Amino acid sequence: MKDPRRILLVVSGGIAAYKTPEIVRGLRRAGHDVRCALSTEASRFVAPLSLQAVSGNSVRQDLFDPGEEGEIDHIGLADWADVVLVAPCTANLMAKMAHGHADDLVTAVLLATRAPILVAPAMNVNMWEHPATRANLEILGTRGIHFVGPEAGELACGWEGQGRMSDPAVLVEAVDSLLAPKTLIGECVLVTAGGTVEPIDAVRAITNRSSGKMGFAIAAEAQRRGADVVLIAGVTNLPTPIGVRRVDVGSAIEMRDAVFVEFEQSSIVIKAAAVADFRPAEAIERKIKKEELAGEGRLQLEFVQNPDILADISARKGDRTIVGFAAESHDVIAGAKRKLLLKGCDLMVANDISRIDSGFDVDENAVHFVWPSGEVEALSLLPKSGVSRELFDRIEKLRAPQ
Ligand code: CTP
Repeated sequence: MKDPRRILLVVSGGIAAYKTPEIVRGLRRAGHDVRCALSTEASRFVAPLSLQAVSGNSVRQDLFDPGEEGEIDHIGLADWADVVLVAPCTANLMAKMAHGHADDLVTAVLLATRAPILVAPAMNVNMWEHPATRANLEILGTRGIHFVGPEAGELACGWEGQGRMSDPAVLVEAVDSLLAPKTLIGECVLVTAGGTVEPIDAVRAITNRSSGKMGFAIAAEAQRRGADVVLIAGVTNLPTPIGVRRVDVGSAIEMRDAVFVEFEQSSIVIKAAAVADFRPAEAIERKIKKEELAGEGRLQLEFVQNPDILADISARKGDRTIVGFAAESHDVIAGAKRKLLLKGCDLMVANDISRIDSGFDVDENAVHFVWPSGEVEALSLLPKSGVSRELFDRIEKLRAPQ
């Protein structure tokens, strides 16, 4: 698969067009190269210059402009795209697409492209429900056009009902989903993410700086590839990836119990969570008061070791593929190799948490894949979504019949 992927955003003339710079930014954050094509009406709702600035590419608007055609002609633009996203798509543009019109730049490109087309309709609820629009939707559906939304809610025209364009984040996810190979259909993927939290008393707790971003990106990629995904999440305020079943837990013990429940039906387990190794020996249910501190302003707490979830499940691995993450601040590879042997999983992803551009609480990660054979693969600094793709490419090879 090509990386970055080339996304053509086609914008038609609806009020939701004002959200398109946000879509472009989301697509670029996901690592894609983006170009925009606007209908004449679209440029009344969003400035072409804004889209040019956020996409980093010139914007196309006019089928017959010699300058624009000279830079990239409309057939070249149609061929350039790996995916065409039409957002917002008005009732009028849907009708034109259904009937093969090519009377302006946008319709000509949509007729000429061989790339998958993803349509995000946005219109008044009565227009959406009109039999003409329903018929167009059916025609486009049978031709393999993909749809996302529209959502129900308050519409710009004042009506309530279905017709809102899906949020930019949902559209970006839909594009990524369309691009992903459906190679995990039939697999049940269990992912753990985020830090655990170990209560000290009624108000205090010990946790760690894990944001959960890596595990959430892994769960999202598994879902895109067609797996059934359950995500066991510790402390994090990240939104649940679309289509993923989420189980929230607090302590390491709660995480272990949840993992054990889901483990039986899972075929791939990825333990990206930062599990606390120790918990306070006694969970005190009330708040410890300052006066209770044992002399000289010191508080002494006793800790006991938590179960090692990864080691426990690896001991009962069966046909499953189990991946661990090693968070290391020094001797990264040696530490990951030691943990791989100790815990008995199929692959250890070594994470250098001392780097400020990578690892904990950032959007990118530079990891090493450490294999039981002793082989070590170094990956360059990638968005966490990119690391997830690399990871599943390896897991799929591992699971392919030899
Ligand atoms: N892990 C686990 N249960 C624990 C501790 C860790 O399942 N009680 C898992 C993590 O989810 C991760 C892997 O083991 O996949 C390695 O975790 P890490 O925190 O890097 O290592 P530790 O085993 O905790 O060792 P250390 O603290 O000495 O680095």
